[in-house]
Amino acid sequence: MNAAGAVITGWGYHVPTRVLTNHDLEGMVGTTDAWIVERTGIRERRIVADDETTSSMATHAARQALERAGVAGRDLDTIIVGTTTPDYLLPTAAALVQEQLGAHRAGIFDVGAACAGFIYGLAVARGLIAAGTARRVLVIGAETISRYIDWTDRNTCVLFGDGAGAVIVEASTTSDGIRSTVLHGDGSKRAHLTVLGGGSKHPPTEASVREGLHYIRMEGNEVFKLAVPSMASAAEEALALAGLRCEDVDLLVPHQANLRIIDAVAKRLHLDRAKVFVNIAKYGNTSAASIPIALCEAVAEGRVQQGDHLVFAAFGGGMTWGAAVVEWTAPPR
Ligand code: ACO
Repeated sequence: MNAAGAVITGWGYHVPTRVLTNHDLEGMVGTTDAWIVERTGIRERRIVADDETTSSMATHAARQALERAGVAGRDLDTIIVGTTTPDYLLPTAAALVQEQLGAHRAGIFDVGAACAGFIYGLAVARGLIAAGTARRVLVIGAETISRYIDWTDRNTCVLFGDGAGAVIVEASTTSDGIRSTVLHGDGSKRAHLTVLGGGSKHPPTEASVREGLHYIRMEGNEVFKLAVPSMASAAEEALALAGLRCEDVDLLVPHQANLRIIDAVAKRLHLDRAKVFVNIAKYGNTSAASIPIALCEAVAEGRVQQGDHLVFAAFGGGMTWGAAVVEWTAPPR
C-alpha cells in the first residue's frame, strides 16, 4: 500500500437538457439515423442552451461530487479541468469553477488533452497527492464541442455532444484506489483531429471565420485506426503496472467515441460485453467528459461494487491517449 494513496471519494455529472436526435440531424445534413447508429452506436446527444458553458456544466458536476464526498469547496487543494473547449482562452475553466465553488485555497488549471483529458487530469491528481502537494483534488472533464461544430459537415456533426463529469480524489493512508495511470501522445499525427482557428497561429479574423478555421475537423478513419490499438495497449500497460491481468477487470469504462471502437478494444482485452460500460447512444462523444459521465451512470446502475477493479481508457486529439486502473473503494451510496 502506498503511504499517499489516491482514492475517488465523490462523483457527479451534468448534461444539458436539450436533446438532438439522429432524426433531427437527418433534417440538417445528408445523413440517416441508420448510418449513424450502425457506424457509431449514437442515437442522440445533448447540446448546451445559449446560457450554458463548459464551466457552468463543470460546476454542476463538481457540486454533486463534492456533496457525495462530504467535502466543501474551501477544502479543495487543486482543481483540474480536462477540456479543449474552455469558456475563454484566458482565464481557464478551472478559474471559473473555483469562483463558483468558493474554493479559494485551490490551485487551478486546465489540462488540454482532448478526449484523454480526464485521464490526464486523474494522473496529475494522483501525482500531486503522491508528492504531498495536495490532499483533496477536484478532477473534471467538461466539454462544449457543439460550439465548434460545422453543422454542414456530416463527418463531425453527428458524433459529438456536450456534458461534464467530475470526481473528488483524496489522499488516503489506508487504501490505494487509483492503482495506476498511463499517459501517451503522438504530436506528429495531430493533423487527424484539429481546431486550427482562434489560437496564436490563426487568431480570429473575418478571414479565419469565413474559412471555418474555428470548426473541429477530423479524419475519422485515421483516428479510428489509431484509437483501437492505443486504448487497448494503454489499458494492458495500466493493468500490468497495477499488478493485474485482463481477467481481473470487473468493468471497463472506456471513452465513448464510437461503439465499434469500444467493441474492438474490449475484444483485444478479451472482455465480454457484460464487463464494458456503454452509454454512447444517449450522449455521443462528449470528449473529456465521457469517462466521468459513464462512471457516474455505471455506479448509479449498480454496475460498480466496492473492491471492483475498473479500467478507464481514452484516445483523443493531439493525439493523446491513456488509461487508469482504479480499485473502487467507495461504499455504496
Ligand atoms: N452520414 C452518412 N454518411 C456519412 C456520414 C454521415 N454522418 N459521415 C461520413 N459519411 C460517409 C463518408 O462521406 C463516406 O462516404 P464515401 O465512401 O462516399 O466517401 C462513408 O460514409 C464512409 O466514411 P468513413 O469516414 O470511412 O466512415 P467510418 O466507418 O470510418 O465512420 C466515423 C466514420 C464514425 C467518424 C469513424 O471513423 C470514427 O468513429 N472515428 C473515430 C472518431 C474518434 O474516435 N474520435 C475520438 C477523438 S475526438 C476528440 O478528441 C475531441
